[in-house]
Amino acid sequence: MDSKTKHKLNTNWNQETKWIHAGCEPEKTTGAVVPPISVSSTYAQSAPGVHTGYEYARSENPTREAVEAGLAALENAKFGLAFSSGLAAEQAIAQQFTPGSRVLVCDDVYGGTGRMFRKFFAPHGIEFSFVNMSEPSFFTEHQNEKNVSAIWVETPTNPTMKMVDIEKAAQLAKKIGATLIVDNTFCSPYFQNPLALGADIVLHSATKYIGGHSDLVAGVVMTNNQELYDKIKFVQFAIGAMLNPFDCFLIHRSIKTLSVRMQKHSENAVKVANFLAEHPKVETLYFPWHQKSPFYELAKKQTRGPSGMMSIRLKGAMSDSTKFLQNLKVFTLAESLGGVESLVNHPEKMTHASVPEQLRKELGIDSQLIRLSVGIENADDLIDDLKHALSA
Ligand SMILES: Cc1ncc(COP(=O)(O)O)c(C=O)c1O
Repeated sequence: MDSKTKHKLNTNWNQETKWIHAGCEPEKTTGAVVPPISVSSTYAQSAPGVHTGYEYARSENPTREAVEAGLAALENAKFGLAFSSGLAAEQAIAQQFTPGSRVLVCDDVYGGTGRMFRKFFAPHGIEFSFVNMSEPSFFTEHQNEKNVSAIWVETPTNPTMKMVDIEKAAQLAKKIGATLIVDNTFCSPYFQNPLALGADIVLHSATKYIGGHSDLVAGVVMTNNQELYDKIKFVQFAIGAMLNPFDCFLIHRSIKTLSVRMQKHSENAVKVANFLAEHPKVETLYFPWHQKSPFYELAKKQTRGPSGMMSIRLKGAMSDSTKFLQNLKVFTLAESLGGVESLVNHPEKMTHASVPEQLRKELGIDSQLIRLSVGIENADDLIDDLKHALSA
């Protein structure tokens, strides 16, 4: 929804304050401070075509409008849109790519994103070039491109935690007339704001930090660009992958605690990363906020801190990784990330199994790579759990 016209916030408020109040004006009839969950699929009209502004819930729904105001506030954006999954949100954006044009995508983009581009959009004449955007040469090599309709960035990337300089990507996009889209799922809006750095569209799998409790699947899009908003909203209405009222309510509720959850994720992640960095069985730690990371300077410049995401490469073979994963007790072996509970994932066999084998090899997604989503439990318990499993 258009957060400017329907839910006015004091622009001087800090982000945490806005997130508590965005989309939460007291309800008109009762004064309820929490917007009710509005389940009606349709709305009465007093004469044909004469209605309250609400006709049918695929196009308008008060609970979705309320959460979309909250979502806009998360990224300090004019507009927010809520979809039934992160991939549904991505599909609505990708629907804007013009056949015959090219899209530059960062090479270790989330496996499902790459799969959607390769299997569903490439056959319609859109060319996807998967490129390493973390190399400085990326910004010089593409300066004279003529036919690039979009640049698709994920930063940090999933699962090897490479970072892309959003400001430089925005300059390049502007120069070559492309739309810059940034998947901000891994950092959350608490730590990184791509629109402020020049991106045209930011998206999140709200299944992750924004939802934060591993109890729903959702995707969100934020932008300041009216034309892009209108086009993406039209896909939401015309294709119909909008978010249902119950999950809109849950997301809206989660937005209010995002800042405190992220602070704890971050604090725990730093402690866990420091432990793993020194452990003799860990060959490499992939955590941009660690001083030894090649992305340390960019992480400091572009973000306000780490979320709970990191990866490690273990010494040894597949059997050692399996033993490690099976011996963890607090970390649950499961796909997904960003929930209050700590999760661990084996990208080669799980989240990134759909990435072509050759590309997986090039990216270093192999049997020894493990991705951690550090939750908000007590950090000592998390470190004890890792210590025990690493010694197994
Ligand atoms: C970075 C990133 N973007 C997008 C998605 C897709 O989101 P969803 O699973 O909500 O469809 C994921 C899912 O893991 C992801 O990790």
